[in-house]
Amino acid sequence: MIIAIDGPAASGKGTLARRLAKHFQYAYLDTGSLYRGVALVLLNKGIDPHDMGAAAQASMHVDLSIVDDPALRSEGTGNAASIVAAMPIVRSNLLEFQRKFSISPPGGEQGAILDGRDIGTVVCPDAPIKLFVTASVEERAKRRFSEMKGRDETVIFEQILADVRARDERDTNRALAPLLPAEDAHLLDTTLLDIDAVFLRAVKIVEDTLLTD
Ligand code: DC
Repeated sequence: MIIAIDGPAASGKGTLARRLAKHFQYAYLDTGSLYRGVALVLLNKGIDPHDMGAAAQASMHVDLSIVDDPALRSEGTGNAASIVAAMPIVRSNLLEFQRKFSISPPGGEQGAILDGRDIGTVVCPDAPIKLFVTASVEERAKRRFSEMKGRDETVIFEQILADVRARDERDTNRALAPLLPAEDAHLLDTTLLDIDAVFLRAVKIVEDTLLTD
């Protein structure tokens, strides 16, 4: 079983994917962390994320140990990730790793859940279950703002809103593998739903699909 989950920044797709993975005991891959990892390698070396040669080099080998670096989750790394993610060479370098994970999860689990921007459209177009998780831009900025305040970071709401808008713009309008719901994706708008309600809807979609297979 492969479950593909896509959606914009701060839509709640990561939280949903983790909960589903735990519930069904499937392997989980946060593909955004791969793009963030490439971006962080550049930022740590003081290299401009627009440097395509350096980004291509950094994306040749996926180093999952960087996933534990707290800097991976910062807004700066997220913005830089969205810049390197628009580069075709970076996307093709990371594609094989993601496909392999989906077909044979490293822990030998019976299924895999991948979340990102192009999982249902490009990485796993044949996934039997595709979810597209979204929420209004204001709601997503609010969530990001509370998350950062919770970590005692100094944040300005208008800045977060502008960052989320800029990221949406880049992720949606890039030429290759833009953020887009697959034609057969189930849409989950989380603007007015809490995580428990979203989770229950997603579980029902998965169970219905498992029953009809
Ligand atoms: O989901 P996230 O915020 O961690 O993703 C960071 C950036 O990586 C996002 O702005 C776009 C890019 N990304 C992508 O292009 N394709 C994916 N499958 C996952 C993330």
